[in-house]
Amino acid sequence: MKITIDGRQIDAAEKKTILEIARDHGIFIPSLCHHPRLVPFAGCRLCIVEVKGRKGVVPACATNAEDGMEVAAATPGLQKMRRQILELILSEHPGAGLIPGRKKACVPGPNDGRRDLPKVVEYLKPDRSGFPPLDGNPDIRTDDPFFNRNYSLCILCGRCVRICSEVRGVSALAFNNRGPKTAVGTALGRHLMDSHCQFCGACLDVCPSGALTEKAASAGTAPDAEKNSICAFCGQGCLLTLELKQGRILRSRPAEMGPVNLGQACVKGRFLVRDAVYHQSRIVKPMVRKNGRLQESSWEEALKVIAQNLSGAEARPIAMASSAQDSCEDIYAFQKFGRHGLKADHILSAEAGSPQARLRNFGRDQNLEVPLNFKISDIGRARSIIVFGENLPVTQPMIWLEVYRAIRKGAKLILVGPEELSIKRCASVWIKTQPGQEQALLGGLSKVLIESNNSVDAAKIDGFPEFKKHLLDFKVFDVLASLGIPQEKWLKPALFLEKRKPPAFLFGAGFCEGLSGPANLAALWNLALQTQGMLIPLDSECNTRGALEISAFFQRIDDHPGPTDQGVDRPVYQTLYLAGPWPAFDKKPAEFVVVQDSYRNKNSRIADVILPQATFTESAGTFVNIEGRLQKFERAVEPMGESKSGWQIISELARKMGLEGFAYKNASDVFHELSGQVPAFRGMSRDHVSHETFLLDAKTDIKKFAVSGVPMSKTPARGFASDPDVYKGLDMSRDIPELRLIRGR
Ligand code: SF4
Ligand code: SF4
Ligand code: FES
Repeated sequence: MKITIDGRQIDAAEKKTILEIARDHGIFIPSLCHHPRLVPFAGCRLCIVEVKGRKGVVPACATNAEDGMEVAAATPGLQKMRRQILELILSEHPGAGLIPGRKKACVPGPNDGRRDLPKVVEYLKPDRSGFPPLDGNPDIRTDDPFFNRNYSLCILCGRCVRICSEVRGVSALAFNNRGPKTAVGTALGRHLMDSHCQFCGACLDVCPSGALTEKAASAGTAPDAEKNSICAFCGQGCLLTLELKQGRILRSRPAEMGPVNLGQACVKGRFLVRDAVYHQSRIVKPMVRKNGRLQESSWEEALKVIAQNLSGAEARPIAMASSAQDSCEDIYAFQKFGRHGLKADHILSAEAGSPQARLRNFGRDQNLEVPLNFKISDIGRARSIIVFGENLPVTQPMIWLEVYRAIRKGAKLILVGPEELSIKRCASVWIKTQPGQEQALLGGLSKVLIESNNSVDAAKIDGFPEFKKHLLDFKVFDVLASLGIPQEKWLKPALFLEKRKPPAFLFGAGFCEGLSGPANLAALWNLALQTQGMLIPLDSECNTRGALEISAFFQRIDDHPGPTDQGVDRPVYQTLYLAGPWPAFDKKPAEFVVVQDSYRNKNSRIADVILPQATFTESAGTFVNIEGRLQKFERAVEPMGESKSGWQIISELARKMGLEGFAYKNASDVFHELSGQVPAFRGMSRDHVSHETFLLDAKTDIKKFAVSGVPMSKTPARGFASDPDVYKGLDMSRDIPELRLIRGR
């Protein structure tokens, strides 16, 4: 398609607005209410343009370009009109200090450099303000966490209102009143705290005027550098931009170019990185227990004490626990040290009880290789979505945005679980179940689909006749009635699954753990086969998948599903080395305990040596997010105190013990070795990790139905009960007051 803007011929993509095409080709058309992630609003009228053959002017942000269109975007007449519109807008904005002659000065915002209003003023250069201010909206709210709302600076562009409702699915903000009294705010002027606000900061980031400002910026602090990092606070893998001043983190914000988060974050990534990194419970020096008391020591001394305890025959038996919140490099070095260096008796892996591990184990029981990779953006294609008991905005914030996007396009959301979740307001059905009832419910859905002959394609899949016979024999409806799940609750979802394809099934740890876990997984697997649906296991650690692949390479994951099952909490070990707060012990379980963490944790009380580990912002490495996407991050700030990266600690300890094979100089060295060893990483290079680098995954597409009665009897793993707000030894919703307030603890 060809269009002309101000005489310039442009080859343009289809289905784009005039404004988008102009932006794509570096042509500036002023705009205030437009934002690339929002539905066009056409409220501010600053983007008006003339189109040859059309009367009057049209808003470029809401007018689709057509082949052969001739657009004038900067005629003197347009500029005059825009200037008048801008003067009207600025009459309500003390930032009319931007106009010479107005007395009040614009309140500086932290992201003034990124705000659109000053840029538009600079472009249009209004030189008078002939409109009297109405001052109809002077509300200034400073009583919520993280950011202030000074509505005397609001220009009513509605970006905050729209991002909160269109993208975040919250609708905490709205246009209140009408006409000259129109104002943005919460319903009835309540606190954001009382308005379901998630404190994601999305409104703050799109505000063009300075009406919303971050509290952390109000002291007039301006960053002197910026560095990107991958957030380690959950499994989504958001790309964050850290704003720095003199080498310290001032603030964090979501990076627009983040392939997973596309400029969005949750409260933790948006507001709490700094608080977490500089938290008072950080361990900044090694500590060694002497005469019953932990005392600060040098690295030399701490490593020597550990080496002495680990080296001799008396050190046996040894147990170690690795963390899925560490980088791939940290986990690889740790496991290599334990298995090859120490020949440890047990290496526990926190991710062994994760939904991904359980799904993979289920496949193995069924002689199937189950692929684990997916793309969060695929969920947006689903037309019916079943979520089992997960409070997605808290546990899977970016997945929630995609689920919500699908809902806005017409998908039906079905919630299954015991608790009434906040996202119920977006759901078509909530099926209240108790743990253990899921299998019967899923069987009921499968049976309805079979009886409505909706399984024609599924009939070609191995095991279908047995599966069908099993269901037809099973008095599943009686069972559901006896469980108190009324017919209308499951018939409606069955109808959605029948008519609205593809479906997506999202399940977390609660669905697949415990005695009913394997049967639940089998029933869900069958339903997904019947409906060609997506199975999405919801893990919450930042590197569960990386840890899973590395642990699998070291071939122990299936044998040792969880700490209690392995008896690690019984004092049968001479030495215990913990890379993080898991498992947590009430009593000392071994003669000699090493704790390596960034924060003092519950196990600090029983530790003989504590080693300070750097946080993700202070290290370089790679994480594999929930999708299987490999992402690398570099050191953004110097480690606090004497803390060091996990791989570095292990390398120094191994060298002190005279072990070979640990002469790594940097994270790239470790990754280079790892990618030559661990199959899922094979052939990858840390230097060439792109936004679209995914782990190698199971290729086989062999599918068959799992029949109830087929043994799937692995002892249910009691692994790490992950809490979405725990990062290493820091329980953010307990230890950071603002998050404690938001989570209501
Ligand atoms: S912080 Fe997020 S949830 Fe709260 S009002 Fe702003 S956009 Fe809405
Ligand atoms: S905690 Fe998760 S969703 Fe929040 S910013 Fe970090 S990675 Fe993104
Ligand atoms: S940006 Fe087009 S009308 Fe506001």
